[in-house]
Amino acid sequence: MKPKLLVVAPTTDAMTSRLGKAFEMIPLSATDGEDALLAAHGDRIVAVLTDGHLGLAPNLMAQLPNLAVIAANGVGYDAIDVGAAADQGVVVTHTPDVLNDEVANCAILLWMATARRLVPNDAYVRAGRWPIEGNTGLTDPIQNRTVGIVGYGRIGQTIARRAAAFDAEILYHARSAKDAPGEFCPDLVEMAARSDVLIVITPGGPATRHLINVDVLAALGPQGILVNIARGSVVDEAALIAALTDGTLGGAGLDVFENEPQVPAALIAMDNVVLTPHIGSATTATRAAMGALVCDNLLSYLEHGTVLTPVPEHSDLKPRPIGESV
Ligand code: DGY
Repeated sequence: MKPKLLVVAPTTDAMTSRLGKAFEMIPLSATDGEDALLAAHGDRIVAVLTDGHLGLAPNLMAQLPNLAVIAANGVGYDAIDVGAAADQGVVVTHTPDVLNDEVANCAILLWMATARRLVPNDAYVRAGRWPIEGNTGLTDPIQNRTVGIVGYGRIGQTIARRAAAFDAEILYHARSAKDAPGEFCPDLVEMAARSDVLIVITPGGPATRHLINVDVLAALGPQGILVNIARGSVVDEAALIAALTDGTLGGAGLDVFENEPQVPAALIAMDNVVLTPHIGSATTATRAAMGALVCDNLLSYLEHGTVLTPVPEHSDLKPRPIGESV
């Protein structure tokens, strides 16, 4: 009998094909409620495949006595209680590195589209207004800007390299100074005041909730642009809407939202914001690489009893061997 894999997040055909050979895959969506799931499969589920948004309900995790690995398809894992998992002897994995380039590219895309008013300019041409009303207004430059990066891990540093190609001065805010180019700014408000563009790429979760608040937005100022490619929770969305509405902030490029996929009507009505539906890593190649890494982690557990890319908090943990219950 194959060990069971509870599948919470969507999988591609390539993932299903690889994982289906080694696991009996149990899609959560196909089960008839939690009680039925636990009665039919509970003690044979050794792994869960989820993502950073769907996570795994702590109550369900606690009722899976043989659970050893939770594999998240994504670099973020804020919806998974990694502390509770560790207490239960469960190792959480994620998909770092393989998405650095495209998430960084998306951040730059949002910055440039916002600064150069790409979306309103496109709409202007499509509406046939150019020959009648003439040229549109001038926009903010891209070259020689000061770019403040909030979160200076692998993706943050990739964004910095991209921005450097446009002669940007790079500032960054993180818990500590990094051995990487750019100026470390321990005070976020001061950094925002010096920045033309503030790009947010820090993990979500309680520690960073509303890190970008009314003071940071005011410091960024009427010419400033905010880009959020991290998690909606990191930005105080009500304060952001107020700042964009009264002109305290110049513009915003947003890939993530506090209550996604719901996006506030106030943001939708603004032409100084660019809105995308959480597509930072959503290219064919990157999503294929992420899916492959999820599979590699799960299959490595079955074949070798270890995982490849545990979340940093679990880097010293080893998953329990199959059959060794809590
Ligand atoms: C991630 O990897 O965390 C991205 O947000 C995609 O879900």
